[in-house]
Amino acid sequence: MKIIHVENSGRDYRLVLGSEPRPAPGPGQVLITVAAAGLNNADLLQARGHYPPPPGASPILGMEVSGTIAELGDGVAGWRLGEKVCALLPGGGYAQFALADAGSVLPVPDAVDLMEAAGLPEAAFTAWTNIIDTGRLASGESLLIHGGTSGIGSLAIQMFAARGHRVFTTAGSDAKCEAARSFGATRAINYTREDFVGVVKQETGGKGVDVILDMVGGDYIQRNIEAAATWGRIVNIAYQKGSKAEVNFAPVLTKRLTLAATTLRGRDPEQKRAIRDVLLQEVWPLLGSRVKPVIARVFPLAEAQQAHEFMAKTGHIGKILLTF
Ligand SMILES: NC(=O)c1ccc[n+]([C@@H]2O[C@H](COP(=O)([O-])OP(=O)(O)OC[C@H]3O[C@@H](n4cnc5c(N)ncnc54)[C@H](OP(=O)(O)O)[C@@H]3O)[C@@H](O)[C@H]2O)c1
Repeated sequence: MKIIHVENSGRDYRLVLGSEPRPAPGPGQVLITVAAAGLNNADLLQARGHYPPPPGASPILGMEVSGTIAELGDGVAGWRLGEKVCALLPGGGYAQFALADAGSVLPVPDAVDLMEAAGLPEAAFTAWTNIIDTGRLASGESLLIHGGTSGIGSLAIQMFAARGHRVFTTAGSDAKCEAARSFGATRAINYTREDFVGVVKQETGGKGVDVILDMVGGDYIQRNIEAAATWGRIVNIAYQKGSKAEVNFAPVLTKRLTLAATTLRGRDPEQKRAIRDVLLQEVWPLLGSRVKPVIARVFPLAEAQQAHEFMAKTGHIGKILLTF
């Protein structure tokens, strides 16, 4: 099967087309004929040598795919050969065939294009588990999502706007803010000329927001604390502007805030299955109507290098895909 492998792992890595034998599914796994693979920022980190796959995972890049089921491993029930699916993977997505744990697989409804569905799993799992499981967003509460036009942000805004939440978001240009509003954001804040703390305070009558999903870090660590409401929850999924900051923790105490940070990739299959089951119930019925994958650009597999370079420029809105 065709795969992409990383040459010269490090700052000047190259992604090149190669081939490998097609893998066979083990117990509890399915083999997927890949229609498309979604790009994630973590793929760029892995190629640079900073984010190794968890033990037992494929060393091939790629944490999400869509396609059709080619083979079922022992003990897998509820799926049939040829069924259209998308799946969260611990690795191995930049390949013609990819192995997935059956508990990380979701159906692709008719209302969603099979290729575009490759942009759903990582964003849906990450948004749900961080905003609901860790952030405990409750009915009627408000939400601030930084990076509103990122792959994660573009789906997260839709998911939680559709569930009736007031969603604030930040992005780095007016065009990105306009896109974020089209996803359902109540207020998109262009952080190059507006202070999100001031805007959020003003829009909430001085109260602040209940839950913040942050991928930025750096000076946002302090500013999130200022923007949070009493009993607020701040959840970091990345620290793109830095994981070190001098922080005044006094408002964490006085506002009774919770600060948390989680990763998804290394969680065990049972935890991922639990998230998958809730997504099926709570988010999948909204697909095709209130929630759609936002696709920035599609590259053929052989142009994986160009796709990474495009992502690194951070001008995109939504997900970048590789197709076969
Ligand atoms: N912890 C987890 O489990 C988990 C899971 C999935 C993803 N993530 C992380 O979540 C982030 C988003 O992932 P993605 O795949 O959706 O990435 P993506 O599409 O490349 O989006 C990243 C966005 O972050 C914003 N950004 C980048 N550098 C920034 C900076 N220095 N300051 C402020 N904003 C910056 C950019 O938007 P603007 O141009 O608007 O600034 C960019 O669109 C990544 O950092 C990824 O590693 C974590």
